[in-house]
Amino acid sequence: MNQPLTHGAVSVAAPEYVQNQKLIKWVAEVAALTKPDHIYWCDGSQAEYDRLCELMVAAGSFKRLNPAKRKNSFLAISDPQDVARVEDRTFICSKHKDDAGPTNNWVAPDDMRATLKPLFAGCMRGRTMYVVPFSMGPIGSPIAHIGVELSDSPYVAINMRIMTRMGRAVIDQLGSTGEFVPCIHTVGKPLEPGEKDVVWPNNPTKYIVHYPETREIWSFGSGYGGNALLGKKCFALRIASTMGRDQGWFAEHMLILGVTSPEGKKYHIAAAFPSACGKTNFSMMIPPAGFEGWKVTTIGDDIAWIKPRHDPATGKTRFYAINPESGYFGVAPGTNRKTNPNCIDSLNQDVIFTNVALTDDGDVWWEGLTETPPAHLIDWQGNDWTPADGAAGKKAAHPNSRFTMAATNNPAVDPHWNDPDGVPIDAFLFGGRRSTTVPLVSEARDWEEGVYMAATMGSETTAAITGQVGVVRRDPFAMLAFAGYNMSDYFQHWLSLGKKLSASGADLPKIYCVNWFRKNDAGQFVWPGFGENMRVLAWILGRVDGNAKGKETVFGICPEYQDLHWDGLDFSAEQFNQVISVSKPDWQAEVQLHSELFEQLKNRLPGEMLAVRSKIEQRLGS
Ligand code: GTP
Ligand code: SPV
Ligand code: MN
Repeated sequence: MNQPLTHGAVSVAAPEYVQNQKLIKWVAEVAALTKPDHIYWCDGSQAEYDRLCELMVAAGSFKRLNPAKRKNSFLAISDPQDVARVEDRTFICSKHKDDAGPTNNWVAPDDMRATLKPLFAGCMRGRTMYVVPFSMGPIGSPIAHIGVELSDSPYVAINMRIMTRMGRAVIDQLGSTGEFVPCIHTVGKPLEPGEKDVVWPNNPTKYIVHYPETREIWSFGSGYGGNALLGKKCFALRIASTMGRDQGWFAEHMLILGVTSPEGKKYHIAAAFPSACGKTNFSMMIPPAGFEGWKVTTIGDDIAWIKPRHDPATGKTRFYAINPESGYFGVAPGTNRKTNPNCIDSLNQDVIFTNVALTDDGDVWWEGLTETPPAHLIDWQGNDWTPADGAAGKKAAHPNSRFTMAATNNPAVDPHWNDPDGVPIDAFLFGGRRSTTVPLVSEARDWEEGVYMAATMGSETTAAITGQVGVVRRDPFAMLAFAGYNMSDYFQHWLSLGKKLSASGADLPKIYCVNWFRKNDAGQFVWPGFGENMRVLAWILGRVDGNAKGKETVFGICPEYQDLHWDGLDFSAEQFNQVISVSKPDWQAEVQLHSELFEQLKNRLPGEMLAVRSKIEQRLGS
């Protein structure tokens, strides 16, 4: 039996199976600072999950959905001031400011600790602190990393059980000496004795803080998504990207999919799109009419850890990717049977919905789920909603409303999604949301040009982050908000690892820039997107195999109309021209925006970036 530790009246005794003294000591220290009423060690069992869901129902924080419609599923509604990631409140507290770089908010570690200490002091009063042990990657696999999140939010504990491998098995894996990343999370709303809790406690003051050198995460004031589920963006991207830089691998904001040809040849693609720009959709895509016999399977929908490894089949080194998560925290609006049938089929049971609307028969609804909205709903803010409200522009579901579901719910989950060896990557895709300028697809001529394409990617902002929606900003590698270190160093890491592999005789994956979001003058999407993106994917696979044609442009190599397979879709050459065209004036303006980014990043910017820009400028004749 572990020595029971106490602070005030609360026993912080760990369960007998916990052998890691460092963990026990840290839990006691955090409890002494945050002063929870209770400490609960999550074992990750189904019984525990069910109990926590019931507790949320009893507290009024969860609504159980109609079991005939959505078995064992719940709806949570957040505070309207806590609905998305808060990038302006996210900090990379490296020792030196230059190591966080100009794209991250930086505060010196000691100063940040001094700021956070009084905020965390007593912040869990009146609440239970959940000890949530989790593994990013299959438990025990050599590529997995363990974290422990201490959170005063049962919503976090419940979601972490879906999104990660969570519970006692992780503690067993830690043993007495294993290492873990300490993650501390509080909603920042202590309760006075007798004070009634609110449905979604949070604090107007928010801090999402990372100490990359000591690999620690401290999150204050939000209960939503990536602000609170610390295994996801905080660990698997911001902390892991610094681990990858130090150890020679990549942690990326990428989906991973498998695609099998009618002949049975299997390819793997990793694709980075910014938040709410189509990763979940692309990773679960069903090939359209005209692509009979093709199959797309999902390895991951949001994050990829990518490591160079020896391929026994070819004797060469290749990039292998794993999905460190075990569930999807996906955008609800826009998801329907046409856009993402696999997703719709995943959402029938064991789902946590957050900030969607409630139907009169205890089901959920969001914009785009059905063409005709129900006659009456309770909207995400708890108000009555009718289609007249919709016509007046009032959303029934928040634009960043989400579902949490296990990867195993997905009918298209890849047989290797859980494979600790990962899958070998054939191509990297980078895609922003651009209504103009950027072509449907373009292939980089070489690794450097590919890194340049990814580095200079722009995208219109979405509701996945707080702030203004629809403004174009540079989002290098879709990692603007997720690189845990200097963005220029991050570019250098991509260049260096590529060079190193190449020198060892490896064939590097080809790199592509894609854009599903070009609009016409009337503001409508020209490209049908979703399953039809298979046509672009098939061209890419043809290029990978060396048998698809393309044409040199100012910005990479693009297909011509006849290079894509059009069976099953009525899409004219003229329409194609609207999505593939690379116009000189547009690109003169675009390169100007690249230059602005490079100016911001000039301190450590790799020379290769300027060299590639010069070539583009030469082609533009400017
Ligand atoms: P995060 O989870 O925030 O990282 O985002 P994600 O990249 O996984 O986003 P997701 O796949 O959930 O995309 C969300 C939005 O993109 C929805 O509004 C979709 O309707 C829209 N979307 C996805 N694919 C396409 C497409 O091919 N064309 C168009 N026009 N919209 C798309
Ligand atoms: C994103 O914003 O890129 C997400 C959602 O994947 S969250 O987990 O909230 O960051
Ligand atoms: Mn994401």
